[in-house]
Formats: sequence, structure tokens, C-alpha cells
Amino acid sequence: MNQETIKTATPEKIYLFDSTLRDGEQTPGARLNYEEKLEVARQLARLNVDIIEAGFPISSPGEMRAVQGISRQVKGPIICALARAVQSDIDAAWEAIRESERPRLHVFLGASDIHMQHKLKKDPALLLEQGVEAVKYARRYTEDVEYSPEDASRAREEYLYELLEAVIKAGASVINIPDTVGYAIPEEFGALIRRLRENVEGLDKVILSVHCHNDLGLAVANSLEAVKSGARQIECNINGIGERAGNAALEEIAVALRIRQNYFPYHTDLNFSEIYRTSRLVSKLTRISVPVNKAVVGLNAFAHSSGVHQDGILKNKETYEIIDAELIGGTAAQICLTARSGRHAVLDQLNKLGFSLNTDELEIIYEHFVSLADKKNEVYPEDLEALILDHLSFTEPRYKLDYLQTVSGSKSIPAAIIRLIKDDESTIEEVAVGSGPIDAAYNAINKITGLNIGLENYSINAVTQGRDALGEVQVKMSYQDRTITGRGTSTDIIEASVIAYLNGLNKLLKINGYQ
Ligand code: KIV
Ligand code: ZN
Repeated sequence: MNQETIKTATPEKIYLFDSTLRDGEQTPGARLNYEEKLEVARQLARLNVDIIEAGFPISSPGEMRAVQGISRQVKGPIICALARAVQSDIDAAWEAIRESERPRLHVFLGASDIHMQHKLKKDPALLLEQGVEAVKYARRYTEDVEYSPEDASRAREEYLYELLEAVIKAGASVINIPDTVGYAIPEEFGALIRRLRENVEGLDKVILSVHCHNDLGLAVANSLEAVKSGARQIECNINGIGERAGNAALEEIAVALRIRQNYFPYHTDLNFSEIYRTSRLVSKLTRISVPVNKAVVGLNAFAHSSGVHQDGILKNKETYEIIDAELIGGTAAQICLTARSGRHAVLDQLNKLGFSLNTDELEIIYEHFVSLADKKNEVYPEDLEALILDHLSFTEPRYKLDYLQTVSGSKSIPAAIIRLIKDDESTIEEVAVGSGPIDAAYNAINKITGLNIGLENYSINAVTQGRDALGEVQVKMSYQDRTITGRGTSTDIIEASVIAYLNGLNKLLKINGYQ
């Protein structure tokens, strides 16, 4: 496909209508409380969606309160509430949104034969009249009234034409075409949208919207096809959550429109850099995890596992990535080190960790890496660090213990004198006090190195028996954002403690590239 063949005209705006808090919350198990709904709504405002469908107020007092809270507190987007085509629902919806800066009422009523005969059990003509009356009633409250003929993709087209013409005449300002059960196929749905535009008088005077469910995995494709056919509002949810298999995923639609602008000559006003944060927030609060392979926001969306891909990415990201993670506020391309990774990827990761290896050293590490990767699914940076520390023994420790003397007793202040040999060249001596002799020794070492090392854990074990048992000390130490374990053994536990500390210190220095 030639990226230059389709030239953009003046980009037209596509309105993003977010229904995460209404249709999204209909996902089984995804109940949100008042504070959580407000938190999501505030984040949606930061994301700069055009419309937030905040809920279905007639459904419960809690829902009413949440929509009211959002209407009062969340500024920027239009705040919309859903209502069936009956006065009590519309009254409740209006009560919930009337304090919003920009309120919208969204009225829906079944329009397919299946819905009309089996669910509503009413004559189509009567239902058409009910829809018209509902719109007129809603218009008494606000000019912004959206009408949805539910199950439109399975409705008789002639009936849809008649119904839509009538509700537009009654005052609907937005007409939304729902593919309620996710039945549509992109080409077919696009053609339906086109025919509606050709056959429904007045449709060109209102905003034409679509609302696609994902039962066949086609919600995003159907929505984009509808845009090509003239729809200018897309209803969608963060992470694609929603009733049954969910709704079209907002992030996928927005990013597809943006990345393929050469194909879709439109724009949205979305604040793209908030996408990732919004996705994580919704996932956390709804307790619905994002599949790792989910487009745009999945954990693996910017991760590369194959050796060939990793090599390509390291040479030029565009070889295997069409979306820049930064666009959506995510973290840049990650190279997952697995048994498939080549030397290039391993060396790159080591460089990022601060190690610069020559060819021979890389060969040693790569050999160990491959056998580790065969046992483990993924090799993490900490594993690589451990490989370096275990196998690059030719790297001399920077500090060695030359002399140690400590003072302790019930009447004296614990103190230590330490002399270290640095780089096998010079000796440095320091004296320090502490809460005990070991603490004093560690303070003296810190004075010599000038590093502020954190001691996270200290443990001692006897590794042999008897009064002259060998003591093994393990210390967990941290420096900057790294943590490492140092080990030391001696019959003198103070000496074992100092050796362990120096062992950890030298590892930390090695990992940090001897800064
Ligand atoms: O799927 C659907 O038809 C709906 C309507 C209320 C728009 O959610
Ligand atoms: Zn829906």
C-alpha cells in the first residue's frame, strides 16, 4: 500500500463519544462506586473526549447521584445521560445532567422487528410515535438530544428511514446508529450508513453517529467504515469494555485515525498522551485487565521478542513499529530478551544497564544468556546483571579490605578503623563510630567511597559447627535505584560483615559502570 496515494483534504472533525461509564460499566463485574466514576470522568476530561456518557440515571439512586456528581464537577466535555423513550426516564436523566455546563439527553428505543415484536411487543407505528414523542419531550429540556434506534443494523431499512426522518423533525440533534449485537460486517455497515444519508431527509443537518459492539470482533472496523461513509461521531469505550464482547475501543479508533491520517482525512481533539494512563485507570478501577496483546494499550503492544525484529528495531524503530509509544503516553519500545534474542539485543540491554563489554566478554555472557533463556521464558535486566557478576570474574573488585579494627563494649562508643585498597593502587583509611561495631565499620566504608549506600537487610548464619564456626553474612544493599546482595564468610562475624558489605559495594559499582 502506498502511503502517499490518498491525499488528505481539510481534516474534518470526528467526535469521540465515550460510553465507558455507561455501556462500559455494563460489562459483567465492572461496577464502579461514586468516587471511582468521578475519577474516571475526570480522566476522560483530561483525555479530552468530546462527550462523556455518564450513566443511565433511572436505573438506580446511586447511578443518579454519580451522574449528578459528574455533571457538577467535570468540565469540558458534554455530559450525556441515557434514557428509554419514556417520560420518567427522560425526567430522571435530565435531573442528573441539568447542572452540567453542556448537557445531552440520549433517548433509545428498539427498532428491529426482533426487538419490537419480542421485547417491546408493540406495533412498529406505535413505537415510531413513541420515539417521536420522547424526542419532543426531551427537547423541552435541552436542544442537544441524541436518538438511537436500538438494533438498527438488524432493522428493516424502510422503517429506519421513516423513523429517523420523524425523530429529526421532532428535534433530535444527533442520530446514532447502533450495531447493538455486533452483527454487522464493515462493508455492509458502511453501505447502510451511506444509504441512510441518501434516503433520510434532514440527516445532513444533524450529527450522524455510530455505536458498534464487538460480538464478531469487528466493532472498530465497523466504526471506521462508518466514518468513511459519513458518520462523524463514534461511540466507544476505553479498553473496548462493554456489554458482552464489549464496544469499539476508543484508543484503537483514535490511534487508527491518527496513524492512518493519509487514509482518513479527519482529526479528533483527543489528548493522545493521556491514552495509556486512562487505559490503566479504567482497568484498575473496573478490575478488568487489559489483554497483553491488546492493540495500542496491551503490555506487549510495544514489546519485541523475535531476534530478527529486535535487530531491526535497534537499527530503526520504524522497521517493526507503526505507533510511537510516546504518542499515547506509554513507555518506549521494549526488547524482551528470550531464547530467540540475538547478540545485538543482549549487548544493547547490557549497554543500557551501564556495562560496556568487548567481543570476548560478550561471547561469554551470550553463551550463559542462551542457556538461561532456554530455562526461563524471559530474561530480565536483573538476570543479566547477575550473569555479569557471576561470569565476568576477570573484572577486579574496586575496593579490597586491607585492615580492620573495631572497638566495642558496654562502656565504650562503638568505633571502627578501616583501610581499603582502591583499584590495587592506593590505600584509604577512615575512622567512624556507629550504633555497634558493624555499623561503625559500614560508616567508615561509606566515608571512604563517598557513596550513600542504603542497607536494606542484614542476616548472619553459621555455615559450620562449633565455637570457631564460619559465619556467613548476607547484606541487601541499595544504591540509586538498584538493590543487590553482598556475601561474606569468616570465623570473625565483624570481618564477615565487612567482606559482605564490600562484596555488595563492588557489585553495585560494577553495575553502575564504576561511576
Ligand atoms: O448497544 C446499544 O444499542 C446501546 C444503545 C443504548 C445505544 O447501547
Ligand atoms: Zn451498546
